Amino acid sequence: MVELRDFTPSDGRLLVAWIDGPVELWTWSGHNFSWPFDEGQLAQYVAESATPLRQSWMAVDPADDRVVGHLSLRIDAANASGRLGRVLVAPEARGKGYGAAMLTQALDAGFGELGLEQIELGVWDDNANAIRLYEGLGFACDRVLRDVAEFAGKPWSAMQMILPRRVWVADAASA
Ligand SMILES: CC(C)(COP(=O)(O)OP(=O)(O)OC[C@H]1O[C@@H](n2cnc3c(N)ncnc32)[C@H](O)[C@@H]1OP(=O)(O)O)[C@@H](O)C(=O)NCCC(=O)NCCS
Repeated sequence: MVELRDFTPSDGRLLVAWIDGPVELWTWSGHNFSWPFDEGQLAQYVAESATPLRQSWMAVDPADDRVVGHLSLRIDAANASGRLGRVLVAPEARGKGYGAAMLTQALDAGFGELGLEQIELGVWDDNANAIRLYEGLGFACDRVLRDVAEFAGKPWSAMQMILPRRVWVADAASA
């Protein structure tokens, strides 16, 4: 349903177009970028994405070659662990299974060719759509960091979720 290809500098305009305000930007990336969002802020992220420390992808629907999403995996090779982030589906493509499909591809890459033993992520605890997506793939809440940030006049709590390789492999075997 989707194929992943490497994130390139020319994809930055798509990310900028998919983020329609400061709260959406915060929800997607926390402190990493600031509003107004522009392609200039992505330079360091693009550069890091071309190193062994990070893999970042665009998700493409092969049926019509439409680019439908973006995600990234930060790699800690020494500890065989990864941290998934920057998960974003194009607004008009949401609710159609693209999020689950592109995450499945990234997790396959992480636990497969990259040989990771564990993949974790952080999500604001009020982002019910994203949490449901992650839980559906086998991620479980490890802990909640209460009121770790203040933004848009309110405190934000971050849920830390973990997916061990053995859970991913067991789920794949029973599918
Ligand atoms: C979160 C996000 C990536 C989900 O992508 P998506 O393509 O819409 O998700 P999918 O269609 O693959 O749905 C996967 C699961 O999440 C649930 N879900 C996704 N969007 C939902 C919505 N708007 N309402 C209810 N459930 C939703 C689906 O029901 C599905 O669960 P199910 O299989 O049990 O039915 C997308 O909404 C998005 O880009 N949000 C803005 C950025 C963001 O919040 N990123 C996460 C940062 S941690």
